[in-house]
Amino acid sequence: MPTILVTGGAGFIGSHTCVCLLEAGYDIVVADNFSNSKPEALNRIKKITGKDFKFYECDLLDLEAVKKIFAENSIDAVIHFAGYKAVGESVAQPVKYYHNNITGTLMLIKAMQEYGCKKIVFSSSATVYGPVNPVPYVEDMPTSATNPYGYTKVMIEQILRDVYVSDSDWSVSLLRYFNPIGAHPSGLIGEDPNGIPNNLLPYICQVAVGKLEKLGVFGNDYDTPDGTGIRDYIHVCDLADGHLCAVKYVLEHKGVEAVNLGTGKGSSVFDVLHSFEKACGKELPYVVKPRRPGDLPSSYANTDKAKKVFGWEAKYDLDQMTADSWNFIKNNPNGL
Ligand code: WQD
Repeated sequence: MPTILVTGGAGFIGSHTCVCLLEAGYDIVVADNFSNSKPEALNRIKKITGKDFKFYECDLLDLEAVKKIFAENSIDAVIHFAGYKAVGESVAQPVKYYHNNITGTLMLIKAMQEYGCKKIVFSSSATVYGPVNPVPYVEDMPTSATNPYGYTKVMIEQILRDVYVSDSDWSVSLLRYFNPIGAHPSGLIGEDPNGIPNNLLPYICQVAVGKLEKLGVFGNDYDTPDGTGIRDYIHVCDLADGHLCAVKYVLEHKGVEAVNLGTGKGSSVFDVLHSFEKACGKELPYVVKPRRPGDLPSSYANTDKAKKVFGWEAKYDLDQMTADSWNFIKNNPNGL
């Protein structure tokens, strides 16, 4: 079976994807610098799958370290998760974000070119649809961004498109995630952000275990059914399965394909909160706060292309996502 390099494989989506790859029979090599993950995640992947794999504690900015991975392993394809992802932090520290995400990716591509590895699945984001496109988002819509984090995704998509134009032997899947939440049903891996969470679900989780006092609902005056923001939440295990489809695709095809990984359904902040309350069996305190700058009223996917190109569609509904999130945080109140 092919060997897949997973950069950022100790992270939230990366670890769930590693489980999927191992269970599908792939060999994997994981590279991570633990800037937003923990070594325990690797132990949990092994515990869930009963399988071992090679690991390199490596920063993609260290080109020699990245090359060493390719020199020591016959890598058939790369899934590239490694990168900073906090929108607010990217606004405060743009150079840190551009250097880490863009330069890190350029180092990875240079190493891939030197060792003749021309197949990559890139962790992009629905954020590349920017503020102007109508929902549901379709892959051929123009891309843009409203913050440095989003621009790193737009730019890396362009870099990979240009690499393919320079060498048509490349195969590139640009996976545009909507809002990944949930956790592996074992409760052994899940979303485990450092510090106070920026995103809705991990924040709700910390309120549920008493680490945070109450949820702040960022605005209830949007033009939506209940006034709160609408997002396309997707179970992280569905997302991991989508990466399995993308790896199979890049191993068998050449060219560049941008593909939405979402459910095509929108849920409001209150939908998520009430679903989580059902899962944990208690009411959770919240307070309505002003809108968060940069937030869109609504974001959700057109999922036709994923079905047509990958034969993939999401299986889990919102209640399963929140139930699995609750199961993880209940068993890991202090994270991994
Ligand atoms: C979801 C909804 C908020 C927190 C971002 C990035 C995206 C991806 C996922 C990395 C919105 C509301 C949130 C809170 C709230 N990141 N909210 N109180 O902003 O859709 O997407 O994270 O890959 O690229 O842009 O996700 O979870 O922050 O917000 O009311 O404490 O929940 O207003 O409507 P978002 P989110």
